[in-house]
Amino acid sequence: MQAKSNQWNNNLAFLLAATGSAVGLGNIWGFPYKAGENGGGLFVLLYMFFVVVLGLPVFMAEVFIGKKGKANPVSAVENLAKSSNSSRSWNLVGYSGILASLLIAGYYAVIAGLVINYGFISLAGFGELDPAVVYATEVSSFWEMTFWFSLFLVGSGIVVGFGIDKGIESAMRILLPMLFVLVLLLVGYGAIKGDMPSALNYLFSWKADQFNAGTIQAAVGQAFFSLSIGMGTLMAFGSYMPKNQTVSKASVIVVTADTGVALFAGLAIFPLVFFFALDPTAGTELVFKTMTTAFAEMGTLGQFIGPLFYFLLAVAAFSSMISILEPSVVFVSEKFSVSRFKAAFIIVVVCFFLSLVSVAGFNVWKDVTIGALDNPFEAMKYLADDFLLLLVGTGISVFVGWRLENTINSDVMGLENKFLLNLWVFVLKWVSPISLLTIWTLGNLQILFGISFF
Ligand code: TRP
Repeated sequence: MQAKSNQWNNNLAFLLAATGSAVGLGNIWGFPYKAGENGGGLFVLLYMFFVVVLGLPVFMAEVFIGKKGKANPVSAVENLAKSSNSSRSWNLVGYSGILASLLIAGYYAVIAGLVINYGFISLAGFGELDPAVVYATEVSSFWEMTFWFSLFLVGSGIVVGFGIDKGIESAMRILLPMLFVLVLLLVGYGAIKGDMPSALNYLFSWKADQFNAGTIQAAVGQAFFSLSIGMGTLMAFGSYMPKNQTVSKASVIVVTADTGVALFAGLAIFPLVFFFALDPTAGTELVFKTMTTAFAEMGTLGQFIGPLFYFLLAVAAFSSMISILEPSVVFVSEKFSVSRFKAAFIIVVVCFFLSLVSVAGFNVWKDVTIGALDNPFEAMKYLADDFLLLLVGTGISVFVGWRLENTINSDVMGLENKFLLNLWVFVLKWVSPISLLTIWTLGNLQILFGISFF
């Protein structure tokens, strides 16, 4: 975003930037591994259900705040609170979003660093190396991981510092279609060479025995994370929306594209997992080990597809990372009247230290548990994805549903159908706050304290 114009050039720019934000590690790395950790079927079905029932409405609400409030996430909320005679403390929603964004940036950069590292490894080819051993070696080195994530973090910081308007638009125009095509190719490969029936059965069968609060919370958390909800990205991007662009249509497009990529990523990865008899519950390492096994098996073809896969994943991560940094950078720059560049520098330094903590979770502090959470990396991820995003999402819902109801009009939203408009407000007022808070409470009780009611 160019600081001076403060508006996207055209309607496509918002779509490209928001899709670029939504489609990222969350789809290709996060979704498959979380589906695996949570037993597949039920998680995937819940995820799709929550994308539609809670994700889309809250997504629209967040874009709405940005579009109406026309400022960084904190000031946008403050502006709207003022014009609706609400308390200024609603800005807590904006501040919590910023906090979540810093935590997410802290661990996101680390995974993205690993992706870049894997790009180079796969370029050289795996030869006879065992992917499991390669992975263990790569994550065991604190400094090597630090090198890769720093590269990524500084790179994205520089882009955000310059303003993300033109660059992100032209890059996404080419790279998003490439990413879609590559994911589809990998699905095709999985269908021909892998075990697609087992994958389909695993991903889409109803598994009643896994029905517990932790799975539900993980599914909502993943839905919000993947859609970039709950930390100000959508407010920031919404604030640059041209006046004539409507919120609902744009939101439906982004949400559909994002969910499609996640499901296809699952259909690319799990046929290989089952074909090579790998462990679907491997967790965060799933994508790295499984995909490298597959690329190695592909022989010469793998030497091309492998690096291409990691390159596109890195690009997807990069456009998401930019969108993770954007809210805090505009906030610092507007609040303290410093240049975007200075603001980006400050935020990158903060994220650097958070990333160090998260890197340590892979090696030096690997066994340092934080309460019930495995290590500092897992703890940051949990705190951001499953804890903060749901709370901020609740705040956004309540604020728009209860405080801004009168300012909602079909022009901004693009919902001419009165029934749909009222349904949306109803969901924001009642359905989403009640269900989010219930899921949040029960999920935390189970995950953090081991207390479960069903
Ligand atoms: N949605 C991105 C992904 O799937 C990550 C991301 C970008 C994000 N901006 C966000 C997550 C804002 C939560 C909130 O990789």
